[in-house]
Amino acid sequence: MIDFIHRFVPAANFSTADTLLLLHGTGGNENDLLELGRSLAPGANLLSPRGKISENGMPRFFRRLAEGVFDEADLIHRTHELAEFIAAAAKHYGFPPDKITAVGYSNGANIAAAMLLLRPGLLCRAVLLRAMVPLVPEEPADLTGTRIFLASGLGDPILPIDNARRLAAMFCKAGADLTFQEIQAGHQLTTAEIDSARAWLLENSD
Ligand code: MLT
Repeated sequence: MIDFIHRFVPAANFSTADTLLLLHGTGGNENDLLELGRSLAPGANLLSPRGKISENGMPRFFRRLAEGVFDEADLIHRTHELAEFIAAAAKHYGFPPDKITAVGYSNGANIAAAMLLLRPGLLCRAVLLRAMVPLVPEEPADLTGTRIFLASGLGDPILPIDNARRLAAMFCKAGADLTFQEIQAGHQLTTAEIDSARAWLLENSD
């Protein structure tokens, strides 16, 4: 079911191209990351949903009880719902379901991390810009073959670096091929890390 408000921007060869799944931060929308996506991977399809939760009018991908404290039942439900949307969108638009790279910022990076842990294999790659441990799955995920770029700010007041380090350790334990960058930054993205993410995507394209 295509039941997320979203944008889909097809590449010229959309039926064989990689697809970037763009996941915005709290208060963002489906338009926010299109430019970033285009600059990261000019030849990719872009699929950009808007989170369904409204927190005082600010779209998010799942509910939270407080900053950094997540409503886990909602997070699990929303993660599976988003996974179903991706599969339905792949069918509807005709892009390959096995060439999907998530690019998430903050809340969007957190739901992408949850998708990696709860639906391993759905994403072949993920660029997580400012993420923390979203939940600890009951069944440990097997992420062998999944490539992840995680960039975290050493001075991020919202997503503390120790938490990001725990997420990195979880991914490694799950067998993911992880590139983890701890950068001199806060919550805002930097040009240098976007350049690193672009180079990483190029190196890790099939
Ligand atoms: C979250 O709620 O996912 C994180 O705290 C990041 C954010 O503020 O969106």
